[in-house]
Amino acid sequence: MVKTITEKMTLGDIVTEIPKAGDILRKQRIDFANDGNRTLKEAALNHQLPLENLLYEINAEGSANQDGIDIKYMDEAGIIKYIQRKYHEDLKDELPVLESYVEKMVKEDASLEAVEDIFLNLKEALLDHTRDEDDNVFPMLESFIEAPSADKWEALKPHMTELEDEHRNAAEAFWRFRDLTNDYTAKEGDPGIIRFVYQRLENLEKATLDHVHLENNILFKRVRETHYQ
Ligand SMILES: [Fe+2]
Ligand SMILES: [Fe+2]
Repeated sequence: MVKTITEKMTLGDIVTEIPKAGDILRKQRIDFANDGNRTLKEAALNHQLPLENLLYEINAEGSANQDGIDIKYMDEAGIIKYIQRKYHEDLKDELPVLESYVEKMVKEDASLEAVEDIFLNLKEALLDHTRDEDDNVFPMLESFIEAPSADKWEALKPHMTELEDEHRNAAEAFWRFRDLTNDYTAKEGDPGIIRFVYQRLENLEKATLDHVHLENNILFKRVRETHYQ
């Protein structure tokens, strides 16, 4: 049974219920991954978008996840493993390859240098961030989930806040890409490399926001609600 989405639901809950809603929202630059506590109504008002259209579009989507996995039924340790396998591994492969294509693109069209600058910063930030999760914060989180204690929670809190700040910065980079690339749309007559890079950047946007949604709106939220206070 597909749940009907209403304007009072939060962006986080909507995308958890209907993963494809994330695509509809990010195309309007609605940051469901970082503003997951906002309601759809608030987001529509903020972005001056007609709420009825958004609701209609979202409710027309099925609840299926691309890989048939429903994260709602996974425990926290399972979600951590899933994030690492699905997103962290991919990032380490994709970012260096994409860097070489971005470089090629700028050689063809120097006016896209700003895209390259943002990409290079984003690449370093995402790799550092992922490394910090894999090596430090996720092991702390696993230990906390396994055997919660007030000390572990106090140690974890500033790390989670730092990761959340970095998540927001990553999303900002994609909105800048959208400004600079006309929402990843190449102009008529643009060389193939531009189309190719725009497509890969949009794929990276999708993966990053879906990834951050799992961390902010599901994993961290659940850990906070279950163990905090
Ligand atoms: Fe991550
Ligand atoms: Fe993260």
